[in-house]
Amino acid sequence: MAHTMHAPAGALAVKQVHKNFSGIRVLNGVSFNVSPGTITALVGSNGAGKSTLINIMAGVFPADQGQVYVNGLDVTAKSMHERVAVGFMRTFQHPRVFHSFSVARSIRLASTGPSDERLFPSVCRALGIGSGPDKGGLSELDVPALSSIIEKWESKADNLSYGEQKLLMLAQVLATKASVLLFDELCAGLEPDLVDKVRNCMRQLSQAGKTIVFVEHNLALVKELADRVVFLHQGQIFREGPTDEVLQDAKVIELYLGH
Ligand SMILES: Nc1ncnc2c1ncn2[C@@H]1O[C@H](COP(=O)(O)OP(=O)(O)OP(=O)(O)O)[C@@H](O)[C@H]1O
Ligand SMILES: [Mg+2]
Repeated sequence: MAHTMHAPAGALAVKQVHKNFSGIRVLNGVSFNVSPGTITALVGSNGAGKSTLINIMAGVFPADQGQVYVNGLDVTAKSMHERVAVGFMRTFQHPRVFHSFSVARSIRLASTGPSDERLFPSVCRALGIGSGPDKGGLSELDVPALSSIIEKWESKADNLSYGEQKLLMLAQVLATKASVLLFDELCAGLEPDLVDKVRNCMRQLSQAGKTIVFVEHNLALVKELADRVVFLHQGQIFREGPTDEVLQDAKVIELYLGH
C-alpha cells in the first residue's frame, strides 16, 4: 500500500491517528515521531487521550484512521502480540496481571527468549531466563526496583499490592527483548523511594539504547527523565519539543496547571 512506501524513520511513529468512542472524538489527527534511544513523555490533563493513544500504539484496539510504525515497519494491522514480536512492549495504567499466576510464572510467560544479559544479568538469572534459573542471583540483584517482587517469587499475582503488580508489569517488560517501551503512569501510586528506583531503572534502559514513551502527571519526573515532551490537549498535540521548552510554554502551563 502507498503509505508503507513512505514509512517514517525512527523507533516509533504515529501518523494522523483518529479515534472516536461512542461518537465522541477522543483523538483527532495525532502525529509524532520518536527517535531511537530517546525518552519521550506524553503529558496532558485527565481525559486528554494519552492512554487511548498508548493503547492504539500497542495494538489493544485499532485507530479509526491513521498508522503506527515501529522501527519503520507499519504495524497498524498487527495484533498486540505481533507488535511485541517486532519489539514493542508496554505497561498498563492500571495493573493487568493473571491473578492466579505466580510472580515467577507471570514473568516466564512474558519472556520472548533469552533476555539481554548485558543489561540486567543477575535479574535474568533470578527470573530464570538467559543463563537459567538461579535463585542465588537474588542477592546481587541489580534492578533494585524489582527486589520486592523477586522476594515474592512464588506468590500469586493476586496477593501482590497495587504497586507490586505494577512492578510485575515492569519485570515482564524487562523479560522481553523489546526495544520500544511504553509506560502508562507506571510510577503513579508508588511510594517515593520506589519511584526513585523505577526512575533509575528507566534511565538504565535508556542508556542501554531502549526507546521509551511514558505517560506521567508528575512533572518533576518528566523533567528528570524526558528528552522531549508531547503535550496532548483534547485529543490533539498542542505542543511538542524539548522538555524544558514545552513545560515552560505559557499556554501549556495555563492549559495544564491553570485549572
Ligand atoms: N473504552 C472507552 N469507551 C468510551 N470512552 C472511553 C474509553 N476509553 C477512554 N474513553 C474516553 O476517552 C477520553 C480519553 O481517555 P484516556 O483514558 O485516553 O485519557 P487519559 O489522557 O489517559 O486520562 P488520564 O490522565 O485520566 O489517565 C476520556 O473522555 C475517556 O472517558
Ligand atoms: Mg490515562
